[in-house]
Amino acid sequence: MRHEPIGKEFFISNRRRLVSKLKPGSIAVLNSNDIMPSNADGTLGYIQNSDLYYLTGIHQEESMLVLCPGFPDKKYREVLFLREPNELLEKWEGHKLTKKEAADISGIETVVWISGFEKLFHHMLTMGGVEQVYLNTNEHYRSDVVVQSRDARFIDWCKKAYPLHEYKRIAPLMGELRRVKQPREVELMQKACDITECGFRRVLEYVRPGVMEYEIEAEFIHEFKRLGSKGFAYTPIIASGANNVILHYVENSRQCHAGDLILLDVAAEYANYNADMTRTIPVSGRFTPRQKEVYNAVLRIKRQAMKLLRPGVVYFEYQNEIEKLMEAELLKLKLINKTDIKNQSAESPAFRRYFYHGTSHMLGLDVHDVGNMHAKVAVGSVWTIEPGIYIKEEGFGIRLENNVVIGKAKSFDLMSNIPIEADEIEEIMNSKKK
Ligand code: GLY
Ligand code: MN
Ligand code: MN
Repeated sequence: MRHEPIGKEFFISNRRRLVSKLKPGSIAVLNSNDIMPSNADGTLGYIQNSDLYYLTGIHQEESMLVLCPGFPDKKYREVLFLREPNELLEKWEGHKLTKKEAADISGIETVVWISGFEKLFHHMLTMGGVEQVYLNTNEHYRSDVVVQSRDARFIDWCKKAYPLHEYKRIAPLMGELRRVKQPREVELMQKACDITECGFRRVLEYVRPGVMEYEIEAEFIHEFKRLGSKGFAYTPIIASGANNVILHYVENSRQCHAGDLILLDVAAEYANYNADMTRTIPVSGRFTPRQKEVYNAVLRIKRQAMKLLRPGVVYFEYQNEIEKLMEAELLKLKLINKTDIKNQSAESPAFRRYFYHGTSHMLGLDVHDVGNMHAKVAVGSVWTIEPGIYIKEEGFGIRLENNVVIGKAKSFDLMSNIPIEADEIEEIMNSKKK
């Protein structure tokens, strides 16, 4: 693996915390993700199931975790099932985890080859006093899954094989656990943010009129991979000029011209943990006065947002507060006027023409991380703060995005070292040697 070892204590503690949430007489089963096919005999890069990873640290396909805390034989209270390495696999795909390696990563002592799953599972389910079977599904509130996951296939199989057990959902429990980050997770996310910073500084030195958006993308990925990241935390958005206002612009194919802004929503992953950064920079190294005026309005809202996103706050109420601040800034920028305010409705508020997304989401093993968005903001949770103003008629838009850990007395900005002041951005861009 490319990253430093995470340490098995983290995964041991995560499993212990999950087990404490299971009802007595339970078994829990979690599956890895599939390797997704592309075309012909091609496959996409592997993305592990975040819950399985959180509980084991195993980044390998065809892996399963079974927790059966009440099982009489201690040896089978937690079992990790793995794909068995063989000579042919070794020749084509390289190294697969040995039992010893998997035990060292996860802290799970009983590692069994996956071919032995059904027999051992039957034993555990029938001999362990098991009444409830906890299974996993993707319950992210914005998930839209059109392919059947390994977990979903397992649910079908398990319910058919054992129809009279009581079935329960793991997803809400995992959301509750993963919502609050452990210190080790914050360290890994800090590392993802630091790698992102290196990529951004490289880009500040590199950008000049005439550069293609995809050349900027290449600068980022070079720096990320060089520093031990597997790559982008999400499909990068390198949006110049009119593309600034398209929230999910990912084509990255346009040439950047003097006078344009480039909105960079780009970040690195590290050890499967994600950063999520946005900066908006001028192609020529100088903002126009109007661009700077809008930039500073967004920056003011971002700073206010950090003060408002505090323990005990409910996200949707915070969003309402941000929208009020946004309304005031848009009035000052003369983008909306008093008549617009008078004529607005709850369904169609005046600000929405220029600010059309949420200000924050939780961040972690998933970029839009799991956890109940209606629950009060928790100490130790990690959030993005990402206001934006997008002015189609003026041909530019600005978003700024940092990642913060919610602290008791005050929040901690994981991106405090990444330049964000307009003057600082200009200074770095103009001090470069071209
Ligand atoms: N990069 C995705 C987001 O900002 O939510
Ligand atoms: Mn982002
Ligand atoms: Mn984000």
